[in-house]
Parts: sequence; C-alpha cells; structure tokens
Amino acid sequence: MPQSFYEEAYLIHKIVFGAGFFFFLLLVVIVVRNRAHRLPLPPGPKGYPLIGNALSLPSERPWLTYCQWSKRFGSDVIHLSALGQSIIILNSARSIYDLLERRSALYSDRPSTVMAGELVGYGDSPAFISNGPRHRTFRRLFSEVLIPRRVEEWRPLQEQKIQILVRGLTETPTAFRAHIRKYIASLVFEISHGHIVEGDDDYFIRMAKQVDDDISVLMVPGNFLVDFFSFLRYIPDWTGVPFKKKAKIFKQTLQNALNRPYQQVKEQIAAGNALPSFTASLIERKENPTEEDTAIFKWASFVFYTAGADTSVSVLSSFMLAMAVNPTKQRKAQAEIDRVIGSGRRPAFKDRLGLPYVESILKEVYRLNPVTPIAIPHNLNPTSDDEYRGWRIPKKSVVIANSWAVLHDAELYPSPFEFLPERYHQQEYQMNPDPRKFAFGYGRRVCPGQLLADDTVFISIVTILALFDIGPLTSGEEPKYTPHLIRLVPSS
Ligand code: HEM
Repeated sequence: MPQSFYEEAYLIHKIVFGAGFFFFLLLVVIVVRNRAHRLPLPPGPKGYPLIGNALSLPSERPWLTYCQWSKRFGSDVIHLSALGQSIIILNSARSIYDLLERRSALYSDRPSTVMAGELVGYGDSPAFISNGPRHRTFRRLFSEVLIPRRVEEWRPLQEQKIQILVRGLTETPTAFRAHIRKYIASLVFEISHGHIVEGDDDYFIRMAKQVDDDISVLMVPGNFLVDFFSFLRYIPDWTGVPFKKKAKIFKQTLQNALNRPYQQVKEQIAAGNALPSFTASLIERKENPTEEDTAIFKWASFVFYTAGADTSVSVLSSFMLAMAVNPTKQRKAQAEIDRVIGSGRRPAFKDRLGLPYVESILKEVYRLNPVTPIAIPHNLNPTSDDEYRGWRIPKKSVVIANSWAVLHDAELYPSPFEFLPERYHQQEYQMNPDPRKFAFGYGRRVCPGQLLADDTVFISIVTILALFDIGPLTSGEEPKYTPHLIRLVPSS
C-alpha cells in the first residue's frame, strides 16, 4: 500500500473526528443554553407590569432592604427587575464566591449608567469602565505600584505623616474627625501627586470630598430616572430639567478634579521640583504621550487620590467610634502594645506581627461597619445567560454583592452586631473569616489599593491606641452613618 494512502486515511479520519467533536460541542452549548432559558429566575419581590420593581428600589441603606428580602424569600440569591433590567443580589459568602470569584471572567463587567457614565463622564473611570483592554491597562498600572514590595516603600512616609494626626489630636482632641481627614489627605495626596497639604482649605481635599459625595449620589440605582428611560438624555440642556442641571455641575467637578492636580504635577516636573509620586511616575513614563496615554494617566491618577481618601477616613472614624463604645477592648489592645513595644518609642510597621489583638481590632472595624457595604455593582457579561444552582441569571444582569449581609451573617460571625475582636482567635474551622475578603470587593474588580489602605489603617490605629485614650461618647448617642453606597462615614 502506498504511503500516501495511509496519510490520506489518517487525514480523513482527523477531519471526520474533528467535525464530529465540533458538532458534539455545539450540541452541548445549545442544550445548555436552552436549558438555561427554561430555568426559573431566583426569587424576589413581585414587581408591576413593565416597570418591574423600579419603584421599590431602596435609595438609602439598600443593603438592609436586601437582607430583609433575602429573609422573606428564604433565598440568599434574589432577583429584581427594573424596566427590563435584571438585578441579582448576592447575600451570602457562598454565592459571592461562586459567581464573582470563581466565575470572575463572566462577572467582572460594570453596569453602564446614563447619568453617571455618559452625562457626567464617570464611565471612563478605572472603577466604572467596562471590562476590556483599557481596564486591563489601568489594572496593570496600579499593580506596578501597589504590589507588596512597592507598597512597603511608602511605609517610612506613612510613619512620618502620622505626626500630623498626633499633633492635631494632642492640641484639639474633640476635632478628631477634621484631624483624621487632614492627615489622610496629606498622606494620600503626597503618595498620589507629591502634593503637600498646607491647610484645611486645601483644594485637593475639597475636590476629593466633592467627588466622593457626587459618586455616592450618582451610583444609587433608581436615583435618576434617565438611567431607566435612556431616551430622556436627549432632552436639551436649555429646558433646565433638574437631572440635566445636576449633570452639568457634577461634570464640572469631575473635570476640575481630573485635570487640575494632574496639571500641577506636570508643571512641577517641567520646573524640576516634583516630589516622587504615582502621578509623576506616570507622566515620566513617556516623553511624548499620545492622547490616549494622557487620558489613561489622568484617570489613573484621579482614581488613586479619590478612591484612597474618604475610604480610609471612614475606617478610622469607625475605629474611633468602636473604641469609644468598647472601653474594655481598647484597654486590652493598649495593654498588648505596652507589653510588646513599651512606652519608650512609637509603634512601627515592624511591630505588626507581634500585635495580634490590635490586628483583630482592625479586622473587627472592617467587619462591623464596612466602608462599602455593597462594594461596587458588577455586571454579567453581555453575550449569554448563566446558570447557577438551578436558576437562570440573565445576561447583562447587574450583580450586587451584599458584603454587609455576609459580614453580619450569624452563621459566619456569631453575635454579628457585637464588637468582638476575640472572635478571630478562635480556631473553629471556616468561622470568622478575615473580613478583608469581603471589605475590599471581588474577582477581577477587587480593590487594587487594599495593601496600601491596610498599611495606613494599621499604623494609624496602633499609634492612636499607643498615645491616646478614646471616649466615652460626649453626646451619649452613637453618631449616624451616611446612608449611601460608596462609604459609611459617621456624619459630623
Ligand atoms: C480602606 C480603604 C478602602 C476600601 C475599604 C476599598 C474598597 C473597595 C471596594 C469594595 C471596591 C470595589 C470592588 C468590587 O467592585 O468588587 C474598590 C475598588 C477600587 N478601589 Fe478601593 N478601597 C479602599 C482604598 C483604596 C485605595 C487606597 C485605592 C488606591 C490606591 C483604591 C483604589 C480602588 C480602585 C481603582 C477600584 C476600582 C477597581 C476596578 O474596578 O477594577 N481603593 N475598593
């Protein structure tokens, strides 16, 4: 038999086998897709025809309503719909892990919003941009400077800047909120832009605060009708409808916050007096940046200082509150510090491993009052439905992780509303997991600034505990937290 006969037979066999395998795969995909279409949606509150649950979406403290729904429907996964848009609420560690972590390739998009994204312009921000090459570029830029080795390089500055807080608390202890805000701003803006905060009226501080306030309002689903009726965006500006007026003001704030600090660093580099910073390192990467490079650098530098400031302020304010109302826990942490460090020197990062009780206090602060109780909403990818535990998750669903529910789940954290740092010293399997797993978000969207933020929070609380006694509350009443999405600062 000629050699070519065998070669031909082998080739035909390969083609037939290959085609058969292809059709088999196709069949599997079709069966799975059809099955997914026939599956029920997760349970949830009944809506009205056409508008669905649009009128019952909570605009304040939505995480509490989500917990109530989860109880009422006996399900950790809840489905809502608002004018045809599916919203999935994940109220358990299991469902969050299964979807946002294990299937993160599918669940790492962000919902697009007309008001925040298009009309104001936040759609290009690293935190709200869709999955894709630009988002990957942002993540790469962040990971270059936020990996453990690079984060450690900022520790001497963190140990030095804490003086601002110590001085403020010594001089006027009751103004502790203002001191925390100024200290965090001084630290974050020096790392992000090499900017030295001079006074309380610093424009970086004002801008970052305004941006965070705006985002809190913009990101609440249901706050703006135009997000549901997108054709409303075509209403001309001159009509003066309220959402258009607001969009204009929000946009102006965003443009200032995006451009002015960046420009400042550019000018300092040109003048040869720029301090080392994240923004300076971006600008210096390229001598002749393209327009796209400049846009990316501006957004990366913007999000670095806006995402890092109020979040850390929130944790430290929650820490002060927790210490004021839990004096015995405070004394226990101070006794540990006295034992390990003594009174001859200030605490430093090198002490961290020797201070397990202080570490547990920090974890309990993250848990009891998480900064972002529902993180930032994710989106299921736009191409196909997904199937989960016998339910259909419609494509493009907005997927909300209710971190608050997990961090207050009595099965995971017994006595969840009590401040109990001791819980982390118990050895029960899978109980009391590190709250940082939930406080900093999930999957491919997990907070890139976690290590830097955690360092800042640690050095702050250990220094405060070493040098001051906190509390009791002067008003006798616990301050109320802001009810918004992005963070939870006790209001002053
Ligand atoms: C205690 C302080 C902080 C907390 C609690 C916090 C928490 C979070 C959470 C929950 C998310 C959403 C994750 C998700 O969608 O699943 C997030 C996203 C983000 N955070 Fe943080 N964060 C903090 C500090 C910082 C700092 C210091 C930076 C910058 C250096 C930063 C930069 C970002 C960015 C850029 C995103 C968007 C990530 C993306 O969409 O890919 N954060 N953060």
